Amino acid sequence: MILVPSILAADFGRLAEEVASAERGGAGAIHADVMDGHFVPNLTLGPAIVKAVRRATSLPIDVHLMIEEPDRFVDPFIDAGASWISIHVETTPHLQRTISHLRGRGVRPGVVLNPSTPLSSLEEILDEVDYVLLMSVNPGFGGQAFLPASLGKVRRLRRIVQERGLRVQIEVDGGVDSSNARALVDAGAELLVAGSAVFGEGDPEASSRRLIEICQ
Ligand code: DX5
Ligand code: ZN
Repeated sequence: MILVPSILAADFGRLAEEVASAERGGAGAIHADVMDGHFVPNLTLGPAIVKAVRRATSLPIDVHLMIEEPDRFVDPFIDAGASWISIHVETTPHLQRTISHLRGRGVRPGVVLNPSTPLSSLEEILDEVDYVLLMSVNPGFGGQAFLPASLGKVRRLRRIVQERGLRVQIEVDGGVDSSNARALVDAGAELLVAGSAVFGEGDPEASSRRLIEICQ
């Protein structure tokens, strides 16, 4: 299991320290939530923040694009230091083109599904991506309650990935905390994104360590 703290819940005035603390606690990548106020009803961060995170850590930066027309913005995020980039299947009719562009630029490509988007939407793209991010809340805000149906979705995707003999990783994002992390890993999730559960209690290092221990 790899813990991927989401900086959305961090103190942006002390971003470098917050990231360093999560890293000391065992985080394996840092998640950056990019929202455009159109695809989701919130505005968050752009390439400048990703660049600041890049300077603060050597961990991979996992950029989650919750934006319309993602093709217009992937390059600035890559230039800023993104290591992995995930695109919502709901945002573009040309998913394959974006995925191969990301790979061509040396970034690990991922696709994201909203809670109501069926796994069948992955049919033609699953063998082209490195990871699939299953949203376990409706994207837009940190601190929302985990949707329990997500657990079954992780299990079903794990089975599909195994049946097709792929090495695609499953990432889960939204409401992940000490009460569900273990069950998610048992269901087949390898990458767990956590915002509030890492940064919400003032000690990202201790919170990260605890979440990782629970999953072992
Ligand atoms: C939600 C974002 C999540 C969010 C997770 O739209 O994609 O990454 O930051 O925050 P928590 O863990 O607090 O639900
Ligand atoms: Zn996210």
